[in-house]
Parts: sequence; C-alpha cells; structure tokens
Amino acid sequence: MKFYIDTADIEEIREANARGLVDGVTTNPSLVAKTGKSNKDVIAEICKEVSGLVSAEVISTDLDGMVKEGVELAKIADNVVVKIPMCDQGLVAVRRLASDGIKTNVTLIFSPLQALLVAKAGATLCSPFVGRLDDIANDGMGLINQITQIYSTYNYDTEVLVASVRHPMHVLDSALMGADIVTCPYKVMQQMIDHPLTEKGIQKFLADAAQIPNG
Ligand code: E4P
Repeated sequence: MKFYIDTADIEEIREANARGLVDGVTTNPSLVAKTGKSNKDVIAEICKEVSGLVSAEVISTDLDGMVKEGVELAKIADNVVVKIPMCDQGLVAVRRLASDGIKTNVTLIFSPLQALLVAKAGATLCSPFVGRLDDIANDGMGLINQITQIYSTYNYDTEVLVASVRHPMHVLDSALMGADIVTCPYKVMQQMIDHPLTEKGIQKFLADAAQIPNG
C-alpha cells in the first residue's frame, strides 16, 4: 500500500520523507490556505521535494475553468495530479485532461456509485473521504470496502486513495481491504510508530545492558 502525506506543510513533508513515508502528497485549498502562500508556489515547492504524485486542487467549478486551471497546474511539474471535485462537469473535465495526458484525482467521494463514475471517466485516482462520513455516523470504511470490490471486479486502472483519515485504524482497515493508497496527516503517521510495549521493551533492554560487565 502506498502512503501519501495529507499536508501542504513542507516541513512535515520533509520529516515524513526522511522516514520513507512519502510515496506522494495530497493538498486541498484548506491545507494550502494554512501556509499563507499561493497554490502555485506551494505545489512547486512540494514537487521539488518529492518524486511521487502531488495532488493540486482546482478552485473553479465550471468546466472551462476546471480544465484551464488543471492545464496550468500540470505545467508546474511532471508529478502534478489535478484534483477535481466530484460533480457532473468535473467528470467531463477529467476526460478532457486525460486526453491531454494529464493525471487527475477526483475528490469528495462519498458513495460507491460516485466512485464507479470516476473510474469510468478515466481518473488516475479516486478519493473517498472516510473521516467525514464517520463524522455524520456513516460507515467510512464500509465505503472503501465497496469501492475496492467494484474496482477489482472490473479491473479498473483508477486507484483508490483513502482520504480524510483521522486515526491509525483507518490506515489498518485500508491495508486489510486492499486500498491502493492512504493519505495521512503527519500526526497519524506518528501515532502508528509508537507502541507502549516497544517503549517498555527498550527501557528493559537499557536497564539490563547497564548490568553487562564492561558494557
Ligand atoms: C485529501 O485529499 C483530502 O482533501 C483530505 O484528506 C480531507 O481531509 P479532512 O476531511 O480531514 O479535511
């Protein structure tokens, strides 16, 4: 399973990259807004840092605007993936960008049928939001189970990118369900590292090592 980091913060990307946890990066307007920089500058900086795919979201919601913005974003670097919101015209934009050889990631997916349409349109990535579904007492991981079943039954090339990840259980369940990619906030990556028995074990070994004659 590929690990993407869900952030526009270059320092977090560097920290995760140093640990081999950055197969790609996802950004969105909310994450970019936190940096105080322009979308273009943020994406260019991230693309210099990582070789994997970097998702950059369009702001337009009309077809011409989405395609124009997508073409501009794709010029920033070869590893840019244009993030398009799920909507009727968004599917058309995906097809147009794909015919120009531009990769796309369709975002804000909340149903298996939306995911099916995304694959039919020829998107590179499909981003179901598990945390936001859980927030309204729906089954976020149930959605991933349905999408992975559909995509594997029909052998779609579109990859499932689990987004809106809130905690390590989302990552574990994604791996068990065979999702292609999980995009995690840096905090969730750190939560996966620690285990109380690991820490206890290190302390015990250190205490015992202190008893070994001549170190
Ligand atoms: C990533 O592509 C999504 O934009 C992101 O995971 C959304 O996460 P949130 O629901 O925590 O805002």
